[in-house]
Amino acid sequence: MSTPVLQARDINRSFGSLVVAADINFSLHEGARHALIGPNGAGKTTFINLLTGHLAPSAGSIWLNGEDVTALPVHQRVRRGLARTFQINTLLREMSVLEGVQLAVMEHWNEGRRLFSGVAQQRRAAEAAYDLLETLGLEADASLPVGGLAYGRQRLVEIAMALALEPRVLLLDEPAAGVPPADSHLMLDVIAALPKNIAVLIIEHDMKLVFRFAQQISVLVAGRILTQGTPAEIAADPMVRDVYLGSKHHG
Ligand SMILES: Nc1ncnc2c1ncn2[C@@H]1O[C@H](COP(=O)(O)OP(=O)(O)O)[C@@H](O)[C@H]1O
Ligand SMILES: [Mg+2]
Repeated sequence: MSTPVLQARDINRSFGSLVVAADINFSLHEGARHALIGPNGAGKTTFINLLTGHLAPSAGSIWLNGEDVTALPVHQRVRRGLARTFQINTLLREMSVLEGVQLAVMEHWNEGRRLFSGVAQQRRAAEAAYDLLETLGLEADASLPVGGLAYGRQRLVEIAMALALEPRVLLLDEPAAGVPPADSHLMLDVIAALPKNIAVLIIEHDMKLVFRFAQQISVLVAGRILTQGTPAEIAADPMVRDVYLGSKHHG
């Protein structure tokens, strides 16, 4: 297989006496559609925080595109292609969908010193933003205020803003949480159909969504990767049934 775009090597982390990451080894490959599942409190969100740099491991290392980024802060990992969604704030709610995504594009360009003159930059950023709206099926909402959209479509705007960072890896912690079931399948289909050069890792507890979305599934239980495999392998794994599928835990 190709070099992983994102890799965790022997990651450990505890909160006091609570072990939330125990010897985690994990690889995400280019274009992956990977789901991380596990009971509530298993450490899934903590693991994402360890990958992004919001949390430091007590041991182990994180690798991005073959580079050890363990010591790098969040924004430097973002600049190297690791993105997660950020929450829509009050200011953004009042902007149009296009303006919000355009702003994210311009911030990214400025960060990368890709400076054009004012008007030219705005026009190019609007075009790039519009392309992203098309990728996410949001073009019909372009001129509407973000805050007026249905909840699920606001989540898609957040993803569009994350894509403005031109990531190699997109991490999504329960993107469909709170989205009505009628919309959540469509939402995960849109995410699955993102450009193939972007690797996507989602945390999701709805197994129907997971099985529809994922090519690979990792099962995290009490901070440990219990097993990993294709949806068919995971569905057939008696260990997984015991600890997860047979239970009513969500998370
Ligand atoms: N900052 C923190 N300090 C102490 N305990 C935490 C902190 N963050 C999470 N935890 C605990 O770590 C465990 C794993 O949490 P989390 O990663 O959010 O699980 P999941 O996302 O799988 O539901 C939980 O028991 C949670 O209460
Ligand atoms: Mg969580």
